[in-house]
This record gives sequence, C-alpha cells and structure tokens, in this order.
Amino acid sequence: MIVLGIETSCDETAAAVLDGGRKILGSVVASQDAVHAPYGGVVPELASRRHLEVVLPVITQALGQAGLGLTDLHGVAVTQGPGLVGSLLIGCSVAKAMAYAHGLPLVGVNHLEGHIYAAFLEEPAPTYPFLALVVSGGHTALYLARGPGRYERIGQTRDDAAGEAFDKVAKLLGLGYPGGPVIETTARLGDPKAIRLPTAQMSDGAPDFSFSGLKTAVSLHVKRHAPLASRQVADVAASFQATAVKMLVSKTVGAAQRNHVRRIVLTGGVAANGALREALQQECQARGWDLHVPSRALCTDNAAMIAAAGHDRLVAGERAPLTMNAIPDLALG
Ligand code: KG4
Ligand code: ZN
Repeated sequence: MIVLGIETSCDETAAAVLDGGRKILGSVVASQDAVHAPYGGVVPELASRRHLEVVLPVITQALGQAGLGLTDLHGVAVTQGPGLVGSLLIGCSVAKAMAYAHGLPLVGVNHLEGHIYAAFLEEPAPTYPFLALVVSGGHTALYLARGPGRYERIGQTRDDAAGEAFDKVAKLLGLGYPGGPVIETTARLGDPKAIRLPTAQMSDGAPDFSFSGLKTAVSLHVKRHAPLASRQVADVAASFQATAVKMLVSKTVGAAQRNHVRRIVLTGGVAANGALREALQQECQARGWDLHVPSRALCTDNAAMIAAAGHDRLVAGERAPLTMNAIPDLALG
C-alpha cells in the first residue's frame, strides 16, 4: 500500500511517500526556521501562511522523489493534532481535497504517535511492549506502548516541554532560534559541571517532568553574571544540557524499571540531541535493555513518521470522514 503522509502541525511543512508503511520512497521537509528566527519562536499566523504557500510544492517534490503520481497512491495520512490549529488546518484541508478528488481513503494521525512510529522506520524495529520517551518542542511525555495503537501515558511535563526549555535558554544566552541545535554545539565548548543547577523531583513521586525551575535558575545565573563572556555562555549551555539530560534519563529509567519493560524508544526533536542519545544509550547498555533511537532526521518533525502510523491504521480499516477536522489538543493515551 502506497501512502502519502502530510505533516503541518507546527513549523515544518512535510510530505512523504511510503511503500508498505516502512519503505520511504520520498520525503521532503521544508523548514520555516528562517521565517520565525527573527522573533525567537514560532509565530502561529506566519506558520500557517507559510504552510499554505509551500504545502503543494512539497507534496509534488515528495512524489517526484518517489517517481510516482497522485494516481499511484492508495491512501492519504495527515497529522490531525496536537499542534497549532491554523497550521494543522492547512494539512487537513489539502489531505481531504486529495482524498476527495482521487477517491482515496483518508486517515488522521496523532502527531505524537507519529513520533513513536519513527522508530519503526529503522532496523531493527522495536517490538511491543516498550516505553517511549517523546521529547519535542511542544511535548515531553512517557508512553507505555503495549501494542499497535495501544498507548498509556505514564508521565508528562507539568510545565515546559524539554524542547521549549532548550529554546528559551538559547534565547536567554542570545544564541538564536531554534535553540536545541545551537545549545548542543555551544555546549561542546563548555564544562557541564561549571554551574550547579536544580533537577526537579516530584513531591508525589510521579514520573512527571518539570523544566521551569531549571529555566529560572539559568535565567537568574545569566542576570547575576551579565555580561557573559563566550566561555561562560558555553559553560551555561553545557551545564543546562547536562541537567536536562539527567532529568530525562533518570525519569525514563525509573519508569522502565517500575513497569518492567526492557525496551525503550527515544524520539521527538530533542532526541536529535547527541548528549541525550549517548546518556540513555549508556544506561540501557548497562542494564542490557534495547534502545531504539531514530536517525536525527526522523526524530525531528517529518511526514514519513505520519505516513508510517497512518499506513497501519489504514490497513486496520480505519477511515476518516471528509468532515474530519484538526484537533489542536488531541491527546495520546
Ligand atoms: O519534534 P519537533 O521537531 O517539533 C515538535 O513537535 O515540537 O521538536 C522541535 C524541538 C525544538 O524545541 C528544538 O529546539 C528541539 O526539538 N531540538 C533539539 C535538537 N534539535 C531539535 N533539542 C536539543 N538538541 C538538539 N540537537
Ligand atoms: Zn513533533
């Protein structure tokens, strides 16, 4: 089954064509970083306008890479939520129009399930059950995946998402947008032990995350020591990254132990971070657990993951009506 996937939930316009839900025939991601960089964050109105401008060329390009035309498709999968409503609406409208015009089955995909499915695009694919840490710009959550489409959310952030914290700290340090990649490169030049920063512990012992205290501590440090020399900026970036990684890894390992799972999937934009990938790999290796981390390009937003998740739903007989709508706060598990 050849499925076209469309992703427009935030600030990447993406389309992909997959064969059998696992083989990527074409995949295109048009980043809007340059549009939002002057504002230091995503401007929703600008994001939806940009999606509208590029969504059709991006789809045409993905089909071109695959060497296929619209008539070769067997189904369309589109991100239905969560995300920015104006952005989601562009993808959903295009997907519905294509499904209607070409008589194709349509399915709506949860963006977070898409991130989990990125792991199935790599070899070896994970087997169920597994614990998934989804860390992105909008979400930070732990899911227990018991089977296809069967997810239980066992932990989530109580305030900022991990990616949001990277973006905000980068802004505080004057490093620009998006923050994740630039914090990672700046951190390489600094000492991760230079500054002591707080790690959040939940008083009720829940496997939840919190990044606002860490962000505030960084903000206070920066104010107290302003102006920072470039060496100090690197030390703050390195210390922040090490602390954020420590929190993510310790909560994930604890949740895996409590739920008796020995297989972990690390995914979402922040999973592109080398320090996080290495730290979780070390913990898993020490315990003999399997860690599945998609390649960096599949960790950040893309449409191949949406087509993969949508393929399995289409094969299972799921169909979205043409009245299907974007759901900005769509939950998973
Ligand atoms: O999954 P994603 O592409 O979009 C959302 O669904 O939010 O994640 C984007 C987030 C941004 O906050 C970005 O700063 C972060 O992922 N990110 C990283 C890295 N690359 C992207 N964070 C840390 N290290 C990276 N290398
Ligand atoms: Zn995402």
